[in-house]
Amino acid sequence: HSDANTDYYEITQKSASLRILPGLDTPAWTYGGTFPGPTLISTSGRRAVVTHRNELDRPVVVHLHGGHAPYESDGYPTAAILPAGREPAARDTPGMAGMGGMGAPNPAPSTAVGTYTYTYPMQQRAATLWYHDHHMGSTGPNVWHGLAGFHLVHDAEEGALPLPRGDRDIPLMLTDRSFAEDGSFRYPSPGGNPERSGTTAPYMNGVLGDVILVNGAPWPVLSADRARYRLRLLNASNARRYRLELHPQPPGGGGLVQIGSDGGLLGRPIAHDALDVAPGERFDVVVDFARYAAGTRVQLVNRLGHGSTTSVMRFDLSTSVRTAPDPAQVPSRLADIPALETTRAVATRTFLFQRKGDAWTINGREYQPGRPLAHVRLGTTEVWRFITDFHHPVHVHLNPFQVVARNNAAPGSYDGGWKDTVDLRPSESVEVVTRFTDYAGSFMLHCHNLEHEDMAMMGDFVTE
Ligand code: C2O
Ligand code: CU
Ligand code: CU
Repeated sequence: HSDANTDYYEITQKSASLRILPGLDTPAWTYGGTFPGPTLISTSGRRAVVTHRNELDRPVVVHLHGGHAPYESDGYPTAAILPAGREPAARDTPGMAGMGGMGAPNPAPSTAVGTYTYTYPMQQRAATLWYHDHHMGSTGPNVWHGLAGFHLVHDAEEGALPLPRGDRDIPLMLTDRSFAEDGSFRYPSPGGNPERSGTTAPYMNGVLGDVILVNGAPWPVLSADRARYRLRLLNASNARRYRLELHPQPPGGGGLVQIGSDGGLLGRPIAHDALDVAPGERFDVVVDFARYAAGTRVQLVNRLGHGSTTSVMRFDLSTSVRTAPDPAQVPSRLADIPALETTRAVATRTFLFQRKGDAWTINGREYQPGRPLAHVRLGTTEVWRFITDFHHPVHVHLNPFQVVARNNAAPGSYDGGWKDTVDLRPSESVEVVTRFTDYAGSFMLHCHNLEHEDMAMMGDFVTE
């Protein structure tokens, strides 16, 4: 229900049996019985209040990825919602005891039992956000088993543009999964994959599946008109990165016209032949199927895949040679994106993402709640430099950032606009600039490879 400036939602997290593979049931942990969970739709400036009820048998935490939200609603990894009827035990709140003494300005969000209500002020521009589990040490398996959904934000600026809308505006959640023979999701255990004689290697680099799902369905086919479609691509996979291409390419190429990134519309559209999408990232693209002949079957393929992971989905275009006029367009100017000035930065910090034995660390440290890597003053601008020896999609909570340099040179072709997740390839460095605003508390900086995150590649920064 809703009142003048608030929309209220209730989501029950529960077990459900999904039909993903023909003839087989897949038991899943879901938001409201479906995978993905229900798509929530908000308007910029209207509060969204979401009450989650945990009817699963495990603790959960909900994070709105890309949301600009107060500490209490950001999904701090130890602020668990325990299953209804279960008393909090010490082991559910690791490390919380030291919290107050570590400079956190707020009391740590406490463990809730049964339900918790998250409040999202939505003082932010139109963007494709998503919500997913963020529970300490078990985010990987929780998301793998189904805990992810879209939360879209609309605003007047975007609403005034003639972009494709209605059933030609389609959020597409890409995930990869493996299945056991009975249809259940197969997720290896962190201590080693018994099916591969105890090696931890498959888990160390993150868990990959061998079936690509789009909105929970393997290799779906969409019947499409020969018209422009807006595809809001989200890589919600635990560890897989994609290089997406249309096959065939439209004559002249440039078939994937990017209009937005993680934090909403770009200043101007960018035509790509291919899109590299790392876990956590969103690419908002318009594809004009009128550039293809009637009846063409256009595939979305993954050039980084092998065998079964090369196909993503297919668009079967209408066979009618006459097409109705397309009301949608992609304007050459989409939005005003004021550049954050690095000269105004009050601090420059370096974060090194690195493997140490069986753990993944930031600046040499494994994650410990309440031991922040940085203290940041609200209202100030900072430059953060991410460096690595491996491959990590780096995500920052609270405020989006702008990429100002990659490998000490210009940002890459996928770095445009407001971002909250940036892909860091082996031996690369990426510099971003952020302005921290509004909410005091402890927020997260982490690798969005969910197994790396679970293996402690996460840090707090405290805003005050
Ligand atoms: Cu999408 Cu902290 O995560
Ligand atoms: Cu996030
Ligand atoms: Cu990583």
